[in-house]
Amino acid sequence: MINPVYSPAPGRYESGIRYRRCGRSGILLPEIALGLWHNFGNVNPLANSLEMAHYAFDHGIVHFDLANNYGPSYGSAEETFGMIMRKSFAPFRDELFISSKAGYDMWPGPYGEWGSRKYLMASLDQSLKRMNLDYVDLFYSHRFDPKTPLEETMQALVDIVRAGKALYAGISNYPPEAAAFAYQYLKDRDVPCLIYQGRYNILNREPERAILDQAKENGVGFIAFSPLAQGLLTGRYLDGIPADSRMAKEKFLKSSALTPRMQAALVKLNGIAARRGQTLAEMALAWCLKDDRVTSVIVGASRVAQIEDDFKALENTAFSAEELAEIDAAVQGL
Ligand SMILES: NC(=O)c1ccc[n+]([C@@H]2O[C@H](COP(=O)([O-])OP(=O)(O)OC[C@H]3O[C@@H](n4cnc5c(N)ncnc54)[C@H](OP(=O)(O)O)[C@@H]3O)[C@@H](O)[C@H]2O)c1
Repeated sequence: MINPVYSPAPGRYESGIRYRRCGRSGILLPEIALGLWHNFGNVNPLANSLEMAHYAFDHGIVHFDLANNYGPSYGSAEETFGMIMRKSFAPFRDELFISSKAGYDMWPGPYGEWGSRKYLMASLDQSLKRMNLDYVDLFYSHRFDPKTPLEETMQALVDIVRAGKALYAGISNYPPEAAAFAYQYLKDRDVPCLIYQGRYNILNREPERAILDQAKENGVGFIAFSPLAQGLLTGRYLDGIPADSRMAKEKFLKSSALTPRMQAALVKLNGIAARRGQTLAEMALAWCLKDDRVTSVIVGASRVAQIEDDFKALENTAFSAEELAEIDAAVQGL
């Protein structure tokens, strides 16, 4: 049977997707973005990756988030995305918002990680080749490097944008003091930081301490990664650890996270979600999106049915004060 040529759903922008303005910028981002950290590597079946990317785009999820070392193996999620570009998405490049990053370990030796100009410039050139792209929409410094002068890292971002290799610059996992410096440096050079990417979910409230307000005050958007706590905040672990789950791989999500207290909290959260008429995953995403300082959430998925479920979160992102208090009580002391 011949693999058919992809043609996107004509109703993709009327599918229920919504877009929010990213900080003080011209960019609107879908409230849900698809991240390719897991399940798009060369260890994963291409047909499944392709199906998930198509499903996302068919529902107006136009933002795809990558990084140099997503896979496994490192680089292979970008290669998979490059195949998807060539096979399916090339005619729709201007409808897509594609991000990549450099900062974590990518290749051996002194120039393969952290925040030097040498690493960032080389890494983005590699990413563009792997993804079959002339430019990315957004390029991030993936983490703050305490040993490299921040001026050097930021100037690399400025020069990358000026060279047309990225349209916008962003930062991820930066502590608030470094973020303040980055915002000012970039603004002073007319390459304002578009967005801050940070871990944010019902179980991890860290960005509420400073990052969310700071981004808003600086006209910078905020995008939440791991909004489902890598799958913990879904129905996946209510009755143990499924063999095909991320936790079963014991790498990025360890079974030690599923303590009896955590399990009890998840069951309580699931009950609150059920009363709202939502799955736990839907409620967890809605919880992030209730806050207008959050531009978007980046979900990961191992199959289309999960994206389908996650997408339904958009049907109800409002919470009563009682529901919020119940959620807080369920996770208290974890
Ligand atoms: N900037 C950074 O440092 C950083 C760090 C981490 C992630 N990110 C970005 O954020 C993206 C998302 O991260 P993440 O994958 O950790 O996100 P996540 O959305 O918190 O977790 C995704 C996992 O949850 C499970 N899942 C998703 N929807 C589900 C549903 N409806 N029902 C049941 N299970 C469901 C799947 O687990 P199974 O695989 O077990 O099925 C899926 O792989 C990444 O791809 C990446 O783009 C960035």
